[in-house]
Amino acid sequence: MRGTPDASTRPNTPGLVDRFGRVATDLRVSLTDRCNLRCTYCMPAEGLDWLPQPEVLSDDELARLLAIAVTRLGVTDVRFTGGEPLLRRGLEDVISATAALRPRPKISMTTNGLSLARRADSLVAAGLNRVNVSLDTLDRARFHELTRRDRLHDVFEGMAAARAAGLDPVKVNSVLLRGVNEDEAVPLLRFAVENGYQLRFIEQMPLDPQHGWDRTSMVTAAEILDSLATGFTLTPEPAARGGAPAERWLVDGGPAVVGVIASVTRPFCAACDRTRLTADGQLRNCLFSQSETDLRAPLRSGASDDEIADMWRATMWAKAAGHGINDAGFHQPDRPMSAIGG
Ligand code: 5AD
Ligand code: SF4
Repeated sequence: MRGTPDASTRPNTPGLVDRFGRVATDLRVSLTDRCNLRCTYCMPAEGLDWLPQPEVLSDDELARLLAIAVTRLGVTDVRFTGGEPLLRRGLEDVISATAALRPRPKISMTTNGLSLARRADSLVAAGLNRVNVSLDTLDRARFHELTRRDRLHDVFEGMAAARAAGLDPVKVNSVLLRGVNEDEAVPLLRFAVENGYQLRFIEQMPLDPQHGWDRTSMVTAAEILDSLATGFTLTPEPAARGGAPAERWLVDGGPAVVGVIASVTRPFCAACDRTRLTADGQLRNCLFSQSETDLRAPLRSGASDDEIADMWRATMWAKAAGHGINDAGFHQPDRPMSAIGG
């Protein structure tokens, strides 16, 4: 913990405010820590020690927390993540329960896209509004090496199905890794523009389970932009960035845009509007927070909605100003990305 802030100084407002004037309205919910890929920068080949099933929130428990977030705490955007959220049984039910809340939140999902081709229509029928598909390479052999599964074709089909089902925009997330796929910035963007997908490059963050992240091997936003400039003319998008982490550029004058999420070299913590819930019911005020608030135990021992809402407010009030990746004393969180949610 970076010091426990005095909760008595918190203004008496219902929303998720913090000490730095930010208001969290965007909830990221990890539905499972499991995944059907094994991206080398995210998971070892044998997988991780998955959460024991009894510790994972049930659909009903999740629905109750979502209702508290939306109806009492001012959450307007809900994003489902994993691990791989499509592996969660009953995902469509979770989505439709979320879509039934008022005011109805916008509902999105970050997925590896593997079984999206089969599910896109039912997800949209349940109320899904937008999707981000992760894709780091266009080369089949390289995809197999990078994810340890020969499934590139399924991702392509999943993305196409998402578009056909009316999800708009279909966003694509790419992480470039030095010596692995750093040569693919231009091909990835060409692919996205040609297919009407909106590409965003994400700087690799220190969230790997091996704790092997190294600043010097990270491909920076500046390098990504330099690579892209060899194939395209990029001009800054006029629209304001707001709370959105991606800085965006028009590609060859538009209308296509490309985003770069420079979490490490140009942190956007000052505009962060996020609050996070893990699959086992732990609340986090940041990807990088060193502490979590357990909501599962109170949920299972009869706490009221009011009490849970107050724990959520207190957790967000304690949010640090920034992730501190660039500080000397930075410690990577214990949980890897796959157990927090992207
Ligand atoms: N840094 C940045 N992005 C990451 N992802 C997984 N691990 C990291 C990391 N250490 C991305 C995946 C996927 C999304 C869930 O997060 O590539 O797009
Ligand atoms: Fe699965 Fe995403 Fe991790 Fe790849 S990055 S192993 S798709 S959770």
